[in-house]
Amino acid sequence: MRTLASFNDAWTFHKGFSPDLVRALREGQAISLPHNAVELPFNYFDETCYQRAFTYQKILAWQPDLSGREVSLVFDAAMADSVVYLNGTEIIAHQDGYTPFEARLTGLLREGDNLITVKIDGSENPAIPPFGGRIDYLTYAGIYRDVWLKVVAPVAIANIKIETTNTLADAKSVSVRCDLSNPQGLAFSGTIDVELKNTEGEVLASVASETDGSSTTLSMEELPDLDLWTLDNPVLYEIAVTLTSAEGSDGYSSHFGFRTAEFTPEGFRLNGKPLKIRGLNRHQSFPYVGYAMGRAAQEGDADILKDMLKCNLVRTSHYPQSKWFLDQCDRIGLLVFEEIPGWQHIGDEQWKQESIRNVRRMIERDWNHPSIVIWGVRINESLDDHDFYVETNRLARALDPTRQTGGVRYITDSELLEDVYTMNDFILGNEELPGANRPRTALRSQQECTGLSRNVPYLITEFGGHMYPTKIHDQEQRQAEHVRRHLEVLNAAHGDPSISGCIGWCMFDYNTHQDFGSGDRICYHGVLDMFREPKFAAFVYASQCDPSNEVILKPVTYWARGERSIGGVLPLIILTNCDEVELRYGSLTKRIGPDRENFPHLPHPPVVIDHRHFSNDELGVWGLKWEDGFFTGFIDGKPVTSLHMIPNPLPTTLDIRPDRQVLKAEGRDSTRVIVRALDQAGARLPFLNDVVAIKVDGPARVIGPETITFQGGTTGFWLETTGAPGSISLTASSLRFDTVKEELQAV
Ligand code: GAL
Repeated sequence: MRTLASFNDAWTFHKGFSPDLVRALREGQAISLPHNAVELPFNYFDETCYQRAFTYQKILAWQPDLSGREVSLVFDAAMADSVVYLNGTEIIAHQDGYTPFEARLTGLLREGDNLITVKIDGSENPAIPPFGGRIDYLTYAGIYRDVWLKVVAPVAIANIKIETTNTLADAKSVSVRCDLSNPQGLAFSGTIDVELKNTEGEVLASVASETDGSSTTLSMEELPDLDLWTLDNPVLYEIAVTLTSAEGSDGYSSHFGFRTAEFTPEGFRLNGKPLKIRGLNRHQSFPYVGYAMGRAAQEGDADILKDMLKCNLVRTSHYPQSKWFLDQCDRIGLLVFEEIPGWQHIGDEQWKQESIRNVRRMIERDWNHPSIVIWGVRINESLDDHDFYVETNRLARALDPTRQTGGVRYITDSELLEDVYTMNDFILGNEELPGANRPRTALRSQQECTGLSRNVPYLITEFGGHMYPTKIHDQEQRQAEHVRRHLEVLNAAHGDPSISGCIGWCMFDYNTHQDFGSGDRICYHGVLDMFREPKFAAFVYASQCDPSNEVILKPVTYWARGERSIGGVLPLIILTNCDEVELRYGSLTKRIGPDRENFPHLPHPPVVIDHRHFSNDELGVWGLKWEDGFFTGFIDGKPVTSLHMIPNPLPTTLDIRPDRQVLKAEGRDSTRVIVRALDQAGARLPFLNDVVAIKVDGPARVIGPETITFQGGTTGFWLETTGAPGSISLTASSLRFDTVKEELQAV
């Protein structure tokens, strides 16, 4: 059987490259993977600092059980231009920072120590997509995903492709195509056994076939009692394939799900049922370490999208993302729009060929994920390029006829070569352009964008973003407008049945080049900040969930008299999925339902308290003395949640909150830790900018600096285990608060 062992530890890192590093192990920095070549400050840095070559070295000691086997190193990804050497000889070069590659070592290993050297060039090499133009994000440098030592039989399973048919019928079918690898070209005959298992490992069906080494497809038909993969109940099954022959045996398995997904001119359907897509775009970056975060942090982002933001889809803008992230999307029921690397720029013929190879690499890596419902096969926001995009579409359909293609553009009247017209509609805000002379428009109709006379499958892939950058500590009025814009677009998407849904720009703030963002190398476009802490706009998404999932009641205010221009808190948007919200303020009590007048199409329009709801006398009650606000949410006439906002906030509690308390000792497990400055009622103190000192005792370390400052009354970091089991005690201290301690465990 095969072994796939982590090859992440005991690397030596060098800031630079020289040919002698190919031949000999030199003293350098001891590191383990995933690794970011240059750790960056939070903001204000020179992003050219990592755009150069680096070297990673590691010894692979010969083991007798490698003999007679196929041995390779699998790199899940490295940025951007990688060359792998074994004992001084080049083995493979890979010019894509987002897809896996395999360095075959078979026959080249010697007894004793073998030197692996990997040269990684983080330069923005114009030969490699997405480079060649300017891009609004950073790509960092380094071996930023996992590396594996793979040992298999000389003839082994290269990949499997699982396809389901009769998916919506009571008796379902599944076929499995097994592609074998036989790099030595051995004459071969063997048997392939395929088992269908549930998550408990029980075998539900099986099938076997002889193989001569070519691709073999095996089918299991009329399978009863299988569950669909749905968003509420994302049931996964496993296909386990065993290859047996005189050359030895091999095993390979993959999870999958039974589901159908279809974009139609009348909207999107999951398992035949209409579903309005409500999603966000996600970059794969983190503060300080860029792309180099492992499994737990990747899974954590998927959980935030599903559990906190209640999204039903994420777009992996603008490249294939970590398999840990995608696996988690499968597990929790979060749809995915995945796309090839690129941003506005299309390079020369060679560049396009590399991009076409990216289509293949993305699809062959990810075709078994039930969460992925569409392939993005255009360079994000590029202009039309007939031949290039005919080919990316042809290839995507040939590789995977089960999924539709999209290709994200911002241009109107673009040639529709894909199955779905996927449009970045940044129209909202255009009315403010000098001379625009147009009414405020949330979204254009699809025919206005496509230029076609008929409706086609149509999806909004971005809106918001640069049209209204908003920081977590921005003035309340700006945050309210940020909220209003997300509400308006969601409302418009819900109101037009021909729009499959919309995907906002974007999930969280991200580091970027000097040409974009606020000059400090951050684009403040997220509904979350870089630590994934919510701005008010996050609750636009959250509040669209059914109250049986979670009751949301979020007034878009810091509750202060003089924060807004002129003063007061009206109009007050309350993001909620309650039927009514009651506000008590002094002698006033108002119980108000959702604002269906302005947001008729949203599943849960916000409650908007404004001058419509007060007589002149009552407005006088909002006098000079600023008082408590008491909010109560009602469903079916019953109070279900309440919130007290106080008029005199003072620093009261330093709140330190790890996402997880128990971490794995090994494999550099990590958890996000949020630190908040709270008032007497537990609300963030949005303008407290004090310093927090973090101290860790035990087998863990803080990623990034240990002295951090609040922004918007909140800050955070990721805590990573260092290898040993034991208790980890985390201390946070800040001048205005009592010091707090939190105990975690590494097991
Ligand atoms: C889009 C682009 C995104 C991001 C966004 C900012 O044009 O596709 O990557 O830059 O603008 O709003």
